[in-house]
Amino acid sequence: TLYSAAAVVAAYLIGSLSFAVIVSKLMGLSDPRSYGSGNPGATNVLRSGNKAAAILTLVFDVLKGYVPVLLVLIYGARFGLGNGTVAMVGLAAFVGHLWPVFFKFKGGKGVATAAGVLLAFNPWLGAATLLTFVIIVAFFRYVSLGSIVAAVFAPFYQLLIWDAGVIAGAITVMSLLLVWRHSANIQKLLAGKESKLGQKAAGAT
Ligand code: G3P
Repeated sequence: TLYSAAAVVAAYLIGSLSFAVIVSKLMGLSDPRSYGSGNPGATNVLRSGNKAAAILTLVFDVLKGYVPVLLVLIYGARFGLGNGTVAMVGLAAFVGHLWPVFFKFKGGKGVATAAGVLLAFNPWLGAATLLTFVIIVAFFRYVSLGSIVAAVFAPFYQLLIWDAGVIAGAITVMSLLLVWRHSANIQKLLAGKESKLGQKAAGAT
């Protein structure tokens, strides 16, 4: 329907707000695409040494996945929107983060946004996936490794926790895209060259 299409487009536009770039600019910091991994994400903003900027990036990147899905879950029925739209809106916010229309389609890896989408889809699924991430990062100190492992587990958690129906497709596609976006991280992890959580990058202010 027209409402469904409008919701998906709106979610994509919101997802396209690359908060790593926006927050850094507003706070007068270096562009995160110019140092460290070059990734516009909270992990890389943290490499500037500015924790507040990293936390703001994280919170807003999570919210841009969480809020659109939640709005469709709450108000969607009034406009005849079902789970198909819920799934597509979540995927659209995530896709916006990866390929933002406002930033020449050069976006991030989708970790925070996927977390927001999963939490909105189902809080238990979100919590189980987040817990997996936290355990891996606490143990190994690599955000990328935690992200990859959590993304691999999410589709299985969803099978155990809840009959997601059409939303299962969106979860699986997000996981596959997320792991693929971490190709460079996988190479670095295998080479023992990945930077640990909070390790500062050269040339960032
Ligand atoms: O935030 C995404 C994280 O998993 C990896 O980021 O900057 O280390 O490539 P980065």
